[in-house]
Amino acid sequence: MLDETILKQHRQDHILEYCKMMSQSEKEQLHIDMDRIDLDEVDKLYEDVYVNRKTIEIADDVEQINYDIKENLPEEKLAEYRSLGLSAIKEGKFAVLLMAGGQGTRLGHKAPKGTFSFNDKSLFERQAEQLNKLFEETGTPIHWYIMTSDINHKDTLSYFLENNYFGYDESYIHFFKQDHVVALSTEGELVLDKDKHIMRTPNGNGGVFKSLEKANLLNEMKDNGVEYLFLNNIDNVLVKVLDPEFAGFIKEKDCDITTKSVQAYPDEKVGRIVSIDDKKQVLEYSELPEGEVNKLENANIGIHAFKLDFLIEAASKPLPYHLAIKNLKQIDEDFSVIEKETLKFELFYFDIFQYANSFATLQVDRKEEFSPLKNKEGKDSIETAQQDLEANQLL
Ligand code: UTP
Repeated sequence: MLDETILKQHRQDHILEYCKMMSQSEKEQLHIDMDRIDLDEVDKLYEDVYVNRKTIEIADDVEQINYDIKENLPEEKLAEYRSLGLSAIKEGKFAVLLMAGGQGTRLGHKAPKGTFSFNDKSLFERQAEQLNKLFEETGTPIHWYIMTSDINHKDTLSYFLENNYFGYDESYIHFFKQDHVVALSTEGELVLDKDKHIMRTPNGNGGVFKSLEKANLLNEMKDNGVEYLFLNNIDNVLVKVLDPEFAGFIKEKDCDITTKSVQAYPDEKVGRIVSIDDKKQVLEYSELPEGEVNKLENANIGIHAFKLDFLIEAASKPLPYHLAIKNLKQIDEDFSVIEKETLKFELFYFDIFQYANSFATLQVDRKEEFSPLKNKEGKDSIETAQQDLEANQLL
């Protein structure tokens, strides 16, 4: 039931206007969509995350984290890590999780970002190839968890099927969907997507932990003897997926969270991994205290490993929503499809860092390990990704 008084109280009575213009089946769908929505929660989200959003707070007492620099490690140490890592992989102690649920609005590629190809080889294939190689080396297939979202789940599955899972043992690939949350207009109104559904968008990469928990995948990993979960993004074209040296580093440090970083350039506008009151956080450039920015040298590159026992405990802990304002396709009052600035609410995976009791970082060479494909042109673009792949002889 769409109750006018209730909808008015929650500034959602525009829905009734849409309803008048809908066919019977569209109306039924709208009712189903609306029944799933808690309007009090929507109000709270809008007020907390948009209306009362804080002006950027500059953090106090930000400290540099402790870290090792790969380049400074002697060859023997790296060889030791490599052999330790390979043994742990062989024993099935690692699983890999790929976060591929994003909308990729900036790149504007019409299919899931992982299908974007350089020289006929897609980002999905590049990552699958590395895991296949590890299988060849260790004889142990690695469980590969791939997070998708409503917007790309079906297309991702068909893409893997069409490509015969890139030779990967299908029973070791586990697709799971992240959760979604309503998107709102800047006036706090629910929005209709182009299929006339109430628009819900992926709830940010920080949705990964609860979604894993909900799908009982953390327990499944535990039953399979997994001890560490390696996690990476889809869009770093140079990512080394579970490289044995890093696996050895993770095993030796045995921390709740182990992460890779790269040296931030002076005044580079990237998120930095820092320590505040001994808790680790990723702070955006704009949140960093002026004058101290360049003392905080570790840029976050989205490559981490979590101890499974830590995740099992921390997955249900609260993470805050962040605001993203993006141009999204939707229906206007005349039922034509338009693109409009819309409020998206996103959880960030790195907000879980605050719950970790132990943390280790390996700073690696950006030229060899980090080149994110975010934009069509300019910084972190198709062109820069192509150049970096070429420079690493990966084309
Ligand atoms: P980004 O933060 O770059 O977001 O994702 P995006 O949605 O891919 O791209 P834009 O901002 O719309 O252009 C970083 C990583 O987190 C994943 C992405 O797939 C990428 O691997 N991600 C992001 C999710 O898995 N789910 C989300 O809801 C958001």
